[in-house]
Amino acid sequence: MTTTTLDSLLAHDSSDMLGAAATLPTQLPDGLARAARAREAIQTSWIGDMGATPRTLVVCGMGGSGVGADLLPAAADVRAPVIAVKGYDLPEWVTDEDRVVCVSYSGATAETLACFQQAVDRSVVAAVITTGGELAERATAADVAIVELPSGMQPRAAVGVIFGALLGVADALGVVHDAARTIDEAVAGVSLVVDEHTGSGPEHGGDQPPALEFARQLHDRVIVVSGAAHTEAVAHRWKAQVNENSKVPCFASAYPELCHNELVGWEFARATGATWALVELLPFEASDAIRARFDITRRLVADAIDVDLRFEPRATTRAGATFEQLAWGDYVSIYLALLRGIDPTPVNRIHELKGELAGR
Ligand code: F6R
Repeated sequence: MTTTTLDSLLAHDSSDMLGAAATLPTQLPDGLARAARAREAIQTSWIGDMGATPRTLVVCGMGGSGVGADLLPAAADVRAPVIAVKGYDLPEWVTDEDRVVCVSYSGATAETLACFQQAVDRSVVAAVITTGGELAERATAADVAIVELPSGMQPRAAVGVIFGALLGVADALGVVHDAARTIDEAVAGVSLVVDEHTGSGPEHGGDQPPALEFARQLHDRVIVVSGAAHTEAVAHRWKAQVNENSKVPCFASAYPELCHNELVGWEFARATGATWALVELLPFEASDAIRARFDITRRLVADAIDVDLRFEPRATTRAGATFEQLAWGDYVSIYLALLRGIDPTPVNRIHELKGELAGR
């Protein structure tokens, strides 16, 4: 590919989503530091018996703000279940034995505000994580700890600082131990991919960033991303990034469950007229049973798909592998947008929907 063509691709990235992806390694410790500043206030919200952790940590948040809830148990060793709530209602079973964190980058998301109100009514909120907005105003009024996020980003591009902040809140509540180690491992993993792209991307004069090559193979295809164990959360992140950055349909699923349903669905794939791509996210230290399922499924569906990309983690820890494979999805989805001739940053449809709902 000529430099002119690479430059013309980059011209679509007018809000610099590639630049935002490159900040992931610094975002992670920044998030942890931000939570540390609110640590005392977070701990005051939890008056468990000496040394006791909450029964569950309930994390309410949507889209780019909700992904931290999936990544936390994927990447860190948690000592209590982490329950993601992606909707308007806090489950009935949430009581003062549990703690709730509400995450909204804008602080204006209807579902998260609704959950926050229910959590305040039950006196179970540990903290909010936000840049401000109504969520911060309501948290201040209710005397709830606020972990402040840096403003000016797309929520989904702030995944590193959101994860770091949530990990810090979990650490303050005793739900995780050694948050600093988890962050170091995540940074090491994410840097494997970021370094390859900041060193070889067109913006640096290199002509073949690896994610661009993968994006070329996925171009004009319906993408199905499969994970297992900790990469189930990453597969969902890939799906959301392909939806929001590349603006194309994408689906996520997980082994071993997909062997009991999706596997059969592939029989109809050719008849849809679409061309299909499978992205396989092998988990860190995949068991023989899981690896066999990836291998056998790949063979069984080979006739239905046009492209099959398998990502094996190179990182040497689970946190590292989680963020390494997440970064692949971020870069591939951005380059896919650029290949399609569109700007990865705006998500006009989301704003349109939020606007219509607000007008009702
Ligand atoms: C946009 C994005 C969206 C938002 C979601 C919730 O970049 O990632 O998925 O995260 O619409 O909004 P916030 O994050 O402001 O609560």
